[in-house]
Amino acid sequence: MSADIAPNAPAASPVQKGLEGVVASDTNISDVDGAKCELSYRGYSMDELVGKAGYEEVSYLLLNGSLPAAAELAAWNRELAGHRPLEAELLQTMERLPFGDPMAYLRTVVSIMGLRDPQAEDLTRLRSQSISLIAKIPTIVALFDRLRNRRAMLGPRPDLGHAANFLYMLHGEDPSPEAVAALDAYFVLLAEHSFNASTFAARTSVGTQTDLYSAITAAVGTLKGPLHGAANTKAMDMLKEIGSEDRVDAFVKQTLADHKRFMGFGHRVYKGEDPRAKHLKRYAEALAAKGEAKWLRISERLQQAVWDAKKLAINVDFYSASLLNYLGIPADLFTPMFACARISGWCAHVLEQAADNRLIRPLARYTGPKGLQFVPLNRRASPTAG
Ligand code: CMC
Repeated sequence: MSADIAPNAPAASPVQKGLEGVVASDTNISDVDGAKCELSYRGYSMDELVGKAGYEEVSYLLLNGSLPAAAELAAWNRELAGHRPLEAELLQTMERLPFGDPMAYLRTVVSIMGLRDPQAEDLTRLRSQSISLIAKIPTIVALFDRLRNRRAMLGPRPDLGHAANFLYMLHGEDPSPEAVAALDAYFVLLAEHSFNASTFAARTSVGTQTDLYSAITAAVGTLKGPLHGAANTKAMDMLKEIGSEDRVDAFVKQTLADHKRFMGFGHRVYKGEDPRAKHLKRYAEALAAKGEAKWLRISERLQQAVWDAKKLAINVDFYSASLLNYLGIPADLFTPMFACARISGWCAHVLEQAADNRLIRPLARYTGPKGLQFVPLNRRASPTAG
């Protein structure tokens, strides 16, 4: 019997719009506790990991289930660094693609990588392909920015860590220790977040036994939306539109009057402040201490004003915007930066789904007309006939 005509849930099941509150699977990768506003990876809370474990260590933890011993981490670092360079043919293709929306570009390049990998369909290679993508996505994002600005392409440096190498490739100079620490923390904090929309898209894809590149292409395309990953770019746009602290109250009033959304505020799961926000703010503050503090001051006032007006708390994207801006990263690259971090979570979920797979295929309650009689084409009324 076809899966399409084998409903295995009662027809009267209540519809949970946006799948709110629906538990779709077990997972042991991360735990999002909405009521307590806590997030942990493989049992380690963010407060325990941030500033202690680097992104490479966390990507190992997510993919392998436990923290690496020193020799394992050294081997993992070497493996990631070895996978950072892109093949010459892929670089040539990248040079010829249109330099439009950065997330559309990234989505396309990941898809092309799948087309170019002769073993893309070999599902026994999901793990090695995952490691390769975790290493290469930051390379693609940094090179995109260099290519669109007609700057010389820089190869990745194996002597630098994941975050430092990205900043070097983007800016063309050795980054400061503060910048590396901030980006590393950002990557750690955004590496994984349970069944968010893009991760669920990746799991749904791989649930059909399609290849990893297809799953990650779907995830990148899903992260691209303003209600998900692009909220960080939109949050920066919002701070720029406000422009100065004294304009915050007027902005809040106008946004409420226009029934628009405050980007970087609100969350489906957290009932209060996103547990990642305070860490992002702390690292942004360390960067601001060396430069312009304006964006943080506007942010703090906006955070308070939106809370007072609507009892809406900030989410991860709010202080991500200031942090990435202080790192000299262009605002339209913020969502690709999210992808650079989240690729570890996506891959961990793909591996978990593939290890105990069942096709993901929910039901819908049909609300359209029923039992209509077919009318031959020559007897159908034209909509313009009046
Ligand atoms: N600004 C203004 N009102 C809001 C906001 C916001 N940011 N978020 C929720 N609301 C209101 C919304 O208007 C609605 O009010 P009402 O019931 O009067 O119509 C109510 O709160 C519930 O909103 P919802 O859209 O049904 O809630 P949701 O759980 O589906 O949405 C959300 C979650 C994140 C999409 C939403 O809070 C939002 O649009 N936030 C702004 C975009 C954003 O920052 N996204 C990043 C999310 S966290 C990181 C990530 O996943 O990428």
